[in-house]
Amino acid sequence: METDTTGVPYLNEVLETGEAKQDTELRPPSFEDFRGQPKTVEKLQVMVGASRDRGEALSHILLSGPPGLGKTTLANILGREMGTNVHVTSGPVIEKPGDLAGLLTNLEAADILFVDEIHRMPKTVEEYLYSAMEDYKIDIMIDQGPNARSVRLDIPRFTLVGATTRVGLLTAPLRTRFTLHARLDYYSREDMVGIIQRTCGLLEVEINEDGAKEIAGRARGTPRISNNLVHFARDFAQQRGDGSINKQTAANALELLEIDSHGLDEMDKKILRLMAENYKGGPVGLGTIAVAVGEEEHTLEEVYEPFLIQEGYLQRTPQGRILTEKAWKTVGLPGAKDSQMDLFRA
Ligand SMILES: Nc1ncnc2c1ncn2[C@@H]1O[C@H](COP(=O)(O)OP(=O)(O)OP(=O)(O)O)[C@@H](O)[C@H]1O
Ligand SMILES: [Mg+2]
Repeated sequence: METDTTGVPYLNEVLETGEAKQDTELRPPSFEDFRGQPKTVEKLQVMVGASRDRGEALSHILLSGPPGLGKTTLANILGREMGTNVHVTSGPVIEKPGDLAGLLTNLEAADILFVDEIHRMPKTVEEYLYSAMEDYKIDIMIDQGPNARSVRLDIPRFTLVGATTRVGLLTAPLRTRFTLHARLDYYSREDMVGIIQRTCGLLEVEINEDGAKEIAGRARGTPRISNNLVHFARDFAQQRGDGSINKQTAANALELLEIDSHGLDEMDKKILRLMAENYKGGPVGLGTIAVAVGEEEHTLEEVYEPFLIQEGYLQRTPQGRILTEKAWKTVGLPGAKDSQMDLFRA
């Protein structure tokens, strides 16, 4: 799936070859187990508590944010906390209004319909969703030609939970029909340490605090990435160490994965290097960067840029992307006086 990319080539291989299965086992099952995103969690808890007290379905919720931060996890937690079923589908799978009608009429009252990648739902289907979300009715056309007629179906009061990595692509009518729009952010170092320790506990691998910090510092604030790094660090510790993860094992394992001490991977470095070497730090248009590094524009926008911007390496301006002072300095780009990182010798 295109949004499933972790931004780390090795890890994408791991995901595609099936290690992703373990992803589900590591998913926190309840709000208590879900670390970080305190504001989002509190809003969701308020909504769940109130809906449960009133014995009503939860109102519609939109979850947005970069890949791997916990959107699917939260949708499942909502189902468990509400004690309702979660029906999972994804935007591009719902091809026709009839597909949507089929999904909706099969729901029970208060069930959650989780639509992943909701920005990829066809526009023709989206329009039918409006009345379903608002009035719990759907009008669908049956038959064709002279026999064509519209039939109104009642659907149970359900909850739509939409997830998207690209909220900007949602139309206003759809976006505003969600009662809550929760934006997930990259996790803090501290939360990442906690998530890594929890994962190690579940995988039954020993890790000390410095080992967890080492991994946390290089996981792009993203639990999916830290989970993958822990899997590899565990293998590494087993093959090259005594089986437990400490600072040194973690550092050596991550070095083997070519993830530097800032959490930058090959593609991040390629982008920064390109901007420094060929465009004197910018401004450069996204399209130009995409062609030059051989990556899709939307992947750059969804996966790489948010992290580079959040960490202060890149800035978006109306003229294009520019490198920041921090990028020149910390990462030791050519032109920086004090070159600490060997980006260019690597
Ligand atoms: N707050 C958290 N605490 C612990 N683990 C987490 C947390 N959030 C996510 N994870 C872990 O990260 C993995 C990825 O999360 P999830 O699949 O929910 O991300 P997503 O936002 O749906 O990503 P995508 O956009 O790619 O679908 C999960 O399997 C889970 O183990
Ligand atoms: Mg998901």
